[in-house]
Amino acid sequence: MEKRLKTLLFLLVSGWVVGCHPHSTNNNHSMMNNNAATNNATSSSSAAAVPANPMDDKGIGPVKSVELGPIQPELVKKGEQLFNEQCTACHRIDSRYIGPALKGVTKRQSPEWIMNMILNPDVMIQQDPIAKQLVSESNGAVMANLHLSEDQARALLEYFRSIDDTISSK
Ligand code: HEC
Repeated sequence: MEKRLKTLLFLLVSGWVVGCHPHSTNNNHSMMNNNAATNNATSSSSAAAVPANPMDDKGIGPVKSVELGPIQPELVKKGEQLFNEQCTACHRIDSRYIGPALKGVTKRQSPEWIMNMILNPDVMIQQDPIAKQLVSESNGAVMANLHLSEDQARALLEYFRSIDDTISSK
């Protein structure tokens, strides 16, 4: 964070120096135009981006709809095991690590989105507005594609559901 701030400051200062260079009147103009273009691009892409209700975002990937019933303990157990084997390199349940804390994820994102994020992270972080935002919140670290099956992703979803239900019933 502090590093990014320093980089930003550096860019601002060096931009200022270029802008004040006596021979750079034209450059200065084109710089301003560039800035305007960048701002437009940013605002139009974010306008088309994150849906008002994140639960409306099903993500991009193989999972189009998930039927959720009562929590299935067998599936939870399978999901927990997978989580401990494959995900703890980057995730904790209760706190941010390389990636976001996963507590509460089923309240933030739709079940389809969660499974698509697990199964198809490469495309999600390029194209899905919520996933793109998470990348910037993770200082550019990206979610790994662990090439899991749909059944494994479903078990992980069940594990996250079980955690979030525990919390809400406390
Ligand atoms: C190499 C590190 C890494 C591994 C391994 C990893 N993730 Fe992630 N994950 C991330 C990062 C970083 C993000 C935030 C999005 C981004 O920057 O790509 C993320 C985002 C997520 C999200 C969205 C979180 C939210 O708040 O909406 C879910 C769900 C998720 N990961 C699940 C998993 C599961 C399940 C596994 C194991 C199968 C896993 N991840 C393995 C790094 C990782």
